[in-house]
Amino acid sequence: MLEINNVDIFYGKAQALTNVSVCVGEKEIVSVIGANGAGKTTLMKSIMGLVHPTAGSITFKGENITKLAAHDVVKQGIIYVPEGRRIFPSLTVYENLFMGTYSKKYSKKEIEDKIEEQYEFFPKLKERMDQLGGSLSGGEQQMLAIARGLMADPKLLMLDEPSLGLAPIIVEDIFKIILDINSKKNIPIMLVEQNAYMALESSSRAYVLELGIVKQQGDASVLIEDDDIKKAYLGG
Ligand SMILES: Nc1ncnc2c1ncn2[C@@H]1O[C@H](COP(=O)(O)OP(=O)(O)O)[C@@H](O)[C@H]1O
Ligand SMILES: [Mg+2]
Repeated sequence: MLEINNVDIFYGKAQALTNVSVCVGEKEIVSVIGANGAGKTTLMKSIMGLVHPTAGSITFKGENITKLAAHDVVKQGIIYVPEGRRIFPSLTVYENLFMGTYSKKYSKKEIEDKIEEQYEFFPKLKERMDQLGGSLSGGEQQMLAIARGLMADPKLLMLDEPSLGLAPIIVEDIFKIILDINSKKNIPIMLVEQNAYMALESSSRAYVLELGIVKQQGDASVLIEDDDIKKAYLGG
């Protein structure tokens, strides 16, 4: 449903992505793994219309979205949860969720129902609904960021390093949630991660990005056994 074809991205004269092609199917979790600076965030920003390719194309459900502005990409149903969990620290959990529907014209009742839906899916957020976003733990903030994304009924959810800076046990929780979103809510997910092990464990297919170039791609179950990937990304 999402097709990125031969995309080049530059920041000034520096090339951040070179001839990158990535696709995500209807039911998939697809991950892009790579070290810091590989171009993972740039790839997501290019899909979101936050940076624009100088070559190549991006299509979503058959429509060319290469040149759309970010708010129009959001209207197509692509929701991006940026790295670093940018929730609103001085708003409550409830208010943060409320803000998640800004791109849609929902009635008050519909919004309330959607917030209730998130509370069912993330019981921890329900317990904390009146707390300020900034007072939550890192894992709870990540849950809130994802839940806020779900408020807009995404047709494709894009997660930028959801595990960054979280303790291993919390990382497991977050990936469980990612799998549930995909299987129970039927939302395709594209995620980028430095945590290659968790990403490969959780996705059907994966791409390896190195210095802006797709070095490898394939079934995650195959890549996780690959010697080069083991050496470079899985600690041996
Ligand atoms: N706004 C920017 N201006 C200039 N260079 C940038 C900008 N954002 C990222 N870069 C550069 O592009 C490359 C890819 O960065 P990024 O996409 O953030 O990688 P990753 O998310 O994989 O860590 C890096 O070399 C980075 O320094
Ligand atoms: Mg990044």
